[in-house]
Amino acid sequence: MKKTWYKEGVVYQIYPRSFKDSNHDGIGDIRGIIEKIDYLKDLGIDIVWLSPVYQSPNDDNGYDISDYKDIMDEFGTLDDWKEMIDALHERGIKLVMDLVVNHTSDEHPWFLESKKSKDNPYRDYYFWRKGKGKKKPNNWTSFFTGSAWEYDEQTNEFYMHLFSKKQPDLNWDNPKVRQEVKDIIQYWLDLGVDGFRCDVINIISKKEGLPDGKWRLGLVGSEHYMNGPNVHDYLKEINRDVLSKYDCFTVGETVFVSTKEALKYVDENNHELSMIFHFDHMSVDNIFKWFIRPFKLRKLKKILSKWQNDINGKGWNSLYLENHDQPRIVSRWGDDKEYRIESAKSLATMIYFQQGTPYIYQGQEIGMTNAYFKDLSQYKDVETYNIYKLGREKLHLSHKRMMKKLQYMSRDNARTPMQWSDDVFAGFSTVEPWIEVNSNYKDINVLNSKEKKDSIYQYYKKIISLRKQYDIIVYGDYKEHDKKNKYLYIYERNLNNEKLLVITSFTKKKVLFKIPEGINVEKVKLLLSNYEVNESLTDFYTRPYEARVYLIK
Ligand code: GLC
Ligand code: CA
Repeated sequence: MKKTWYKEGVVYQIYPRSFKDSNHDGIGDIRGIIEKIDYLKDLGIDIVWLSPVYQSPNDDNGYDISDYKDIMDEFGTLDDWKEMIDALHERGIKLVMDLVVNHTSDEHPWFLESKKSKDNPYRDYYFWRKGKGKKKPNNWTSFFTGSAWEYDEQTNEFYMHLFSKKQPDLNWDNPKVRQEVKDIIQYWLDLGVDGFRCDVINIISKKEGLPDGKWRLGLVGSEHYMNGPNVHDYLKEINRDVLSKYDCFTVGETVFVSTKEALKYVDENNHELSMIFHFDHMSVDNIFKWFIRPFKLRKLKKILSKWQNDINGKGWNSLYLENHDQPRIVSRWGDDKEYRIESAKSLATMIYFQQGTPYIYQGQEIGMTNAYFKDLSQYKDVETYNIYKLGREKLHLSHKRMMKKLQYMSRDNARTPMQWSDDVFAGFSTVEPWIEVNSNYKDINVLNSKEKKDSIYQYYKKIISLRKQYDIIVYGDYKEHDKKNKYLYIYERNLNNEKLLVITSFTKKKVLFKIPEGINVEKVKLLLSNYEVNESLTDFYTRPYEARVYLIK
């Protein structure tokens, strides 16, 4: 494997709206981020991934962009942004921007032009089609529920949107669109950014003719655009013409990809993306997100092991448990009450000692939990409202049942303000924030977590610093043990003559851990644990959510 900074680095995702408000309007902003760079430095992260900060009407919190080259007024100015990137770079932290180019906002000038007439030069930047009589051009549905088509009176045609109707899809088959995208990438690279997180990048190429599709995993039509016909050519083109000329990396958000498909994107010989985010492990506790099922550790292990083994030696993995689209992991697969601290640490150990680049989502490093909102009006997310409506109107589920689903799965669980202190509004702002602060902020906050020796924060810091000391954590091969075990996730990593043994428990029950074959107990050194542990390794009964990492020379 080629050694590079983005394989060795740890990424921290900032969702700017909820990170830190500097000017007392209840909305996080760029100057707020600047205030907190020393915090990030103390944690030890190397790369910041910033969710979109571009001009946007905020139908989908910045994932609907109306100007790719300017900063959203609520977040500050381009000068603030420049100050931020300089401040990051001065402290040796790189910056990755979010690239949202499957669609634009319907308020983007390209779309406003394209709407005007059928022969407008921008018409072909999007997918405009005649209806079949009064019916939609095809039967595709949107990720945010309902039809993927919206009627527009002016020209008596429909346009396609795979997300909200304020997010029309760009037509990548038009070379001018690809040129615009390259231009945007180049613009930010020239301003010094170090890479891009590419939003839903595996759905940019749609099948010619846009034929009717089949139902699959809650969506109709996806077989005609998931890893669509030209996606690999388009990514190669962008890489060749722009990305390859800079020292930068890309991580593609890809929905429904197998490891086989993933390798086409990330195989180092293919020159497309540096790595991807897959979603396989995110569906262990649900079926297409809203049909919640019990978490099963064996299922999780099978999925993660497959990704480790299939990508190893050819491409590179990303390691994540949270982001702005996922609920808080400790509320999901851990225990966010009695064993919040233990289980948050155990989950971090389980994921971050695998092969790949770690991604930490803001607040994860202090074990923030789901918000458990009781009232529908506390939610702000467009997807959440659409799902609620669908559940109530089409599936006839009760209000209570729907609220339970949202409490578990809504994206807003990850979007409540960062809990900095036990001050009013958690130190995020001095005024009522755009979305309510989680009511547990007096107990769970940065100030608290930084002060305590045994906190989740200190544990994350330790993991990050260990990665810097031991190459094996970054580059070692992976091998799973005791696959059938329902409670323990045990694996080893190997590099040259060293071995790493990672043991994590997913239960409060006592479970017997037995030393796997091939481990020389004479030569073990404890690197990390979430309980007091004797130096020597023997068989043992686990304590609730226990985690240990040993180095074996
Ligand atoms: C991605 C983003 C999500 C957004 C969607 C549409 O999945 O992560 O937040 O709603 O794309 O841009
Ligand atoms: Ca603000």
